Amino acid sequence: MNPTTMTIAELKDAVQKRHSVRQYLDKPIPGDVAETLQAEIDNGNAEGELHMQLVLNEPKAFDSFLSHYGKFRNVSNYLALIGPKSETLDEKLGYYGERVVLLAQQLGLNSCWVGLTYAKVKTSYVVGENEKLVAVVALGYGATQGVPHRSKSIEEVATLTANADPEWYLQGIRCALLAPTATNQQKFHFSRIGHRVSVKAGVGFFSKMDLGIVKYHFEIGASDEDFEWA
Ligand SMILES: Cc1cc2nc3c(=O)[nH]c(=O)nc-3n(C[C@H](O)[C@H](O)[C@H](O)COP(=O)(O)O)c2cc1C
Repeated sequence: MNPTTMTIAELKDAVQKRHSVRQYLDKPIPGDVAETLQAEIDNGNAEGELHMQLVLNEPKAFDSFLSHYGKFRNVSNYLALIGPKSETLDEKLGYYGERVVLLAQQLGLNSCWVGLTYAKVKTSYVVGENEKLVAVVALGYGATQGVPHRSKSIEEVATLTANADPEWYLQGIRCALLAPTATNQQKFHFSRIGHRVSVKAGVGFFSKMDLGIVKYHFEIGASDEDFEWA
């Protein structure tokens, strides 16, 4: 499957099905699936000027006490989220990383964003001068499909107009509430003036990375409308 052929219906399906999975089967990612992921990674790197890299068959990053404490088992593939240092790096890696995550879900894989509970195995990827590895995403065939997270309500994460918000805005927020966020913090806030939507990150670990992820989810949910980011 080519990433560009993923329809909105498929993306919405992936948003519903995706949950963090920390335990994996001892089953490698086949070559054609890895190639499809690589094509999306290449797209994201080109569009976002990033240096994300797919690391396959590398068990050491998730073989530490910290990873086992974090309940990770059998992780040997991951997406290394790397890019040039800048104010917007975390947000961009969130946005383009989640594109890879939802494609992976559609390809039958499972995933988990990981900011803390992994070890940096520097021989497995290239971090260029003035670049930074911010986080990784574990990828593979899950031992389970995970479970839906507890979620805040729409009212808690958005400024609403009494019974007058268009359906596309509400659908966008619903999709955003299904997004993964660090420690499930959901520290973001949406507001809208006409077709212009604004979303701001609250204070918290990785909240800028969460913001990029959440923006991609909103775009999927609100795709019926030609809205603009403020
Ligand atoms: C930026 C980011 C960093 C994360 N870091 C970790 C981590 O270090 N360890 C971990 O077990 N889960 C981590 N997670 C996964 C979250 O705990 C998980 O996404 C959240 O609880 C929501 O659950 P869900 O992904 O199943 O919807 C992280 C998620 C995000 C988005």
